[in-house]
Amino acid sequence: MATPAPIRRHHHITLCSGGAQEDYDFHTKVLSLKSVKKTALYDGDVPIYHFYYGNDLGEESTLVTTFPMRQSGRKARRGTGQIRTLCLSIPVSGLAFWAKRLGAHGFEVREASRFGERALAFQHPCGLDYELVGIDDDDRKPYSNGEVPPELAIRGTHAIVVSVREHETSNEFMTLGWSARRIAEDGRHVRYVFGDGSGPHTGHIVDFALEPELPQASWTYGEGIVHHCAFQVDDYSAQDQVKFRLEGMGFTDVSERKDRGYFDSIYVRTPAGALFEATVSKPGGMAVDEKIDQLGTSFQIPPPFRHRTKELLEYLEPLRY
Ligand SMILES: [Fe+2]
Repeated sequence: MATPAPIRRHHHITLCSGGAQEDYDFHTKVLSLKSVKKTALYDGDVPIYHFYYGNDLGEESTLVTTFPMRQSGRKARRGTGQIRTLCLSIPVSGLAFWAKRLGAHGFEVREASRFGERALAFQHPCGLDYELVGIDDDDRKPYSNGEVPPELAIRGTHAIVVSVREHETSNEFMTLGWSARRIAEDGRHVRYVFGDGSGPHTGHIVDFALEPELPQASWTYGEGIVHHCAFQVDDYSAQDQVKFRLEGMGFTDVSERKDRGYFDSIYVRTPAGALFEATVSKPGGMAVDEKIDQLGTSFQIPPPFRHRTKELLEYLEPLRY
C-alpha cells in the first residue's frame, strides 16, 4: 500500500452567497475578516464576483471565499449530500463577546456543542449555517486591523460539516483517499481529522452529520449553499499522488489541474456529495497581483475574462468598500 495521500489542512472554503454588498459587509464588518481579494469566478461565461476574506496575508486555512449569486438570480436548495455548516475558530474567551456582538447586529444566535466544543450557531444573511467554535491553543494569526480586537478575532476555519444519508462510503473516501483518521463520534456526527499533530485539530477537521431525512441539496452555483472545501497539499507531486490514489479507487472524475490564479487545484465529487479540492498555493500566494500591504484594495480581473474586461466591469453590481 502506498503512503497516505498528503492532505495537510483546510486551504479555503467557498460558498455561494446572496447579494455582493450584503456578503461583503457580513464578512468584513460583522465577522471582522480582512478583504484579501476581490476578483470574479474563473468558470462560466456570465461574470460572478469572487471575494476572499481571511487574515492579514490571506494565509491558507484562514480563507473564506464567496460567489455572491443574487445578481445571477440562481438559487440553490439546501439539504443533504452537501457541505452544510462552516465552523470558524475563535478563542474560548471570546464566546460571550461574539454572542453579544452578533446579537447586536441582529443575528439570532444559538449555543451549540459537539465533540466537547462550545459553539455559537447563526446564519449568514443568505441563510447559510455558520458556527463560531471556542478553541484554545489556535496559533494562527488573525486579522490585526479589524473592528474586533485580535485577541478575540476569528483565527480561521475550524471544521466543515457535511450532511450525508449514510456514513460508510465517506469513511472509505476519507481514510483511503483523503488521508484522514476517524477519531470520534457524537450522536449523529462522525469526526475525521487529517494532517500532522494532535490537540484540537482546528483547521484539519471534516465532520459528517447523518441526515437521511433531508432532500438532496443542489451542487450547482446558486444562492444559499456551500460550493466546496479546499484542502492544502504541499506541491504538484503531492497533488498528483492524491489524484492517482483517488483514480485508483475508482474516482475517475478527479479533474485536471486548474490554474486559479493564486493556487492550482484539482477537484473531486466525494461520495458524500460534497465537492472537495486539493490545492497547491503559488509562490507569493495572494500577493501575486497586489502588494502585501494592498491586498484586497482593488478589483482583479480574472484572466479568463481579460478580453471582456469592459463588459465585466459594466455588468457586475457596484460594491462599496
Ligand atoms: Fe476553491
